[in-house]
Amino acid sequence: MKFNVSEIQSVIEERRTIKPSQFKSRKVHKEIVEKLLNAAKWAPTHGLTQPWHFQVFMEEGINRFADFQASTYKTITPKEAFNKSKYKKLKDRPLESSVIIALCMKRQESQKIPEIEEIQSVACAVQNMSLLATAYGIGTYWGSGGVTYTKQMHSFLNLGKNDKCLGFLYLGYPSIDWPKGQRKPIEYFTDWHLK
Ligand SMILES: Cc1cc2nc3c(=O)[nH]c(=O)nc-3n(C[C@H](O)[C@H](O)[C@H](O)COP(=O)(O)O)c2cc1C
Repeated sequence: MKFNVSEIQSVIEERRTIKPSQFKSRKVHKEIVEKLLNAAKWAPTHGLTQPWHFQVFMEEGINRFADFQASTYKTITPKEAFNKSKYKKLKDRPLESSVIIALCMKRQESQKIPEIEEIQSVACAVQNMSLLATAYGIGTYWGSGGVTYTKQMHSFLNLGKNDKCLGFLYLGYPSIDWPKGQRKPIEYFTDWHLK
């Protein structure tokens, strides 16, 4: 065996979504973030376009991100639909994390590779980060709610016309016991074609 298969399998199975409210105050250092970004870049990419673009928010950047999210929600939400607790969550949740990575797809100029493949490629890169984070004992939370897909967020992130923000990866050391996951057995989602 070239690698320790059971360790790798454990990392895959134990990668868990852990929400920022379940993070402890211990910060994730920049050196670790760099390791995660270096893992991200080894994702498969059709035509080697390497369509990922990550924007890392730390320190003051997190406050700026939190303020922007919350104020954008306030601006774009009609008065009668405004939800105070949603607003508070958008403002407070980022502050529970020491690192937030905006997960963006940078569209190649020629647009030769189908967009769906570029998005898939970024998702693979995110999984690489999440798996390595798991190995470090760091929980990840991929959030895509709130104002993620708005044109305001698009310009906040300085994205090009055809680029896309796919969400945000929050990182943190869990304050809780590592959660157990659950999945259906393979029979539920696999058809075998043997002839
Ligand atoms: C593209 C994507 C977007 C997601 N967005 C959200 C989100 O907005 N809110 C949320 O609670 N979880 C979000 N998640 C996390 C899922 O809820 C989580 O992966 C799922 O519950 C399975 O749990 P696990 O990651 O621990 O296996 C997202 C996951 C993906 C892949």
